[in-house]
Amino acid sequence: MPVTSGVPWFDDRGRTVNAHGACLLRQDGRSYLFGEYKTDDLNLFAGFSCYSSADLVNWRFERIVLPVQPDGLMGPGRVGERVKVMKCPSTGRYMMYMHSDNAGYTDPRICVAVSDTIDGEYTFLGELTHRGEPVRRWDVGTFQDDDGTGYLLLHEGDVYRLSQDYLTAQELVADGIARGGESPAMLKHDGTYFLMFSQKTSWESNDNFYLTAPAVEGPWTHRGYFAPEGSLTCNSQCTYAFTHTTADGDVPIYMGDRWSFPHQASAATYVWLPLHVRGDTLAIDTYWGAWDPLTCRPAEFTGREADVRFSSGTTGDGIGIPFTGSRIVLVGRSRPDGSYARVELTSTDGTVISSIYVTFYSKVPDDGYRYVSPVLPRGDYLLQVTVLGEPTEWSDKSGERFGSVGTRVVIDRALVLD
Ligand code: GLA
Repeated sequence: MPVTSGVPWFDDRGRTVNAHGACLLRQDGRSYLFGEYKTDDLNLFAGFSCYSSADLVNWRFERIVLPVQPDGLMGPGRVGERVKVMKCPSTGRYMMYMHSDNAGYTDPRICVAVSDTIDGEYTFLGELTHRGEPVRRWDVGTFQDDDGTGYLLLHEGDVYRLSQDYLTAQELVADGIARGGESPAMLKHDGTYFLMFSQKTSWESNDNFYLTAPAVEGPWTHRGYFAPEGSLTCNSQCTYAFTHTTADGDVPIYMGDRWSFPHQASAATYVWLPLHVRGDTLAIDTYWGAWDPLTCRPAEFTGREADVRFSSGTTGDGIGIPFTGSRIVLVGRSRPDGSYARVELTSTDGTVISSIYVTFYSKVPDDGYRYVSPVLPRGDYLLQVTVLGEPTEWSDKSGERFGSVGTRVVIDRALVLD
């Protein structure tokens, strides 16, 4: 089964994998995914989630590893974003870093939590400090070097080396090397350090850029965009990178978010793609809607074609697709005038198996997979797609409006898998 991008993923419970602004850790042959547990209404902290997988495709929900705290910086009414976890080699403990803020994003803090086990529950410790002073920044990333040294990456390009116990930011080793940059993510490949950033357009995608250096301390060189220019990083924002081992060697994998404000829980999706490193150049050559994690080559869903052409922006319009099989895949278009559909999967007796928002919006048009159902026992089902009639819409900190200019849902075909 392939790794998919731009479609909701389903976990072992049949619910969507809800782990945004995520990071990934490997332990005992499993990958642990940590992310923001988003809701479909408020933009407030609802906990950080942890899922695990043996193959990057099938995800098991572990638990909410940091729930909303009774009060304080990660308590009710706060924003909590960009959870990052590293295992501290000197203490053996798992350290969690995060962005805490007020609802208006005017009170940013970097905070830290700790656990003896990877899947928590984590104990919230409070603000991370540098020389006794809190680090008041927002977007946060982490990087662990081969020798176990931990680094904290911040927007605008500040990089701190952490203390041996990972509890404090010990030294600022790179200072403002990426002005205007957000959502930092670092990887090391063949001795070169690569540091990715997005630009600042709130929940909208933009062309993300990268820098390279022979050491974390620098000197850092700006290298331009790593995805095709104008693709807005394949309609995504970087959040993390990890190394994936295949029979043919180690492949760095890009992890990005395709945000979907305000219905982020299921309609915000993940864009995960192999990165190509040639010398000190980093690239996503082309966008793949699906790829095989065993080979890191593009993949396709194949199945019986169902003729289901549908295009409407009218609230309540819809199409019902009855099918016999174990899975259904919708192929359609996302574009600037696209927006939400409610996609509901039911069994023949009317039991609702899954009912989620799926977005047909993207600033750069994309023809491809829009929905891949969970794997079901082979049988008879109905997939109902209904136009919600509500645009995806938000403003950035300066009040500039972003989002969809319409409410259209476009489906070109459906594939039914046996
Ligand atoms: C940027 C950040 C996100 C979040 C949004 C809020 O995209 O990278 O983590 O803070 O802004 O607008």
